[in-house]
Amino acid sequence: MAKLSLGVLISGRGSNLQALIAACASPGYPARVVQVISDQPDASGLAHAVRAGIAARTLVRGDFSSRSAFEAAIDATLRDAGVELVCLAGFMRVLSADFVAGWRDRLINVHPSLLPAFKGLDTHARVLAAGARFSGATVHFVRAEVDAGPILVQCTVPVADDDTAETLAARVLRGEHRCYPLAVRLIAEGRVAVAGERVHIAGATSPSDVVINPTED
Ligand code: GAR
Repeated sequence: MAKLSLGVLISGRGSNLQALIAACASPGYPARVVQVISDQPDASGLAHAVRAGIAARTLVRGDFSSRSAFEAAIDATLRDAGVELVCLAGFMRVLSADFVAGWRDRLINVHPSLLPAFKGLDTHARVLAAGARFSGATVHFVRAEVDAGPILVQCTVPVADDDTAETLAARVLRGEHRCYPLAVRLIAEGRVAVAGERVHIAGATSPSDVVINPTED
């Protein structure tokens, strides 16, 4: 079966991009990354694309006269590369409703919280301030509203008493690196259907029962 062609948008480190590239290198994984776009010329994540021989392009908002011209360049780059699914991976720019509509149900994002809780920035500090016992990561279809849209895959991680925003971020990031390749695989296998605000995944199994933090002695 033909592999699903991915376009990945980044702004920085690109560890989720690297997780997708690594998954795509596994035999039988049903997707491949065909285009990477960064909106930051110095994004260190671009090196992951270069190392893997993937086309990488930098498109800087300031080089365009308007947001719509900037987004048109992103859109044209993705379409010229034959991208079928766009993956936002630490792309720290809000895309317009028009762009989102043009890729409806073919545009996904990873966010470092258990959405719909803790949308937006500074997620981990806010989780700690709230005293939550769990946090996690979410891969979801993108809608015009920021950090909203039908949820594909989530994972939970425990919050430890001595966590800092940095230690919690690192634990959540490991979860992101597992969730994102899984979400892409499920889409590529044709198992995902969006119905209203919910995602149905054919043949998926779920954990069977309760997890508690702190654990019962
Ligand atoms: C990730 O933690 C991702 O969830 C977050 O930025 C980080 C990018 O890391 N994205 C958002 O907060 C978007 N709302 P990476 O560049 O190493 O993949």
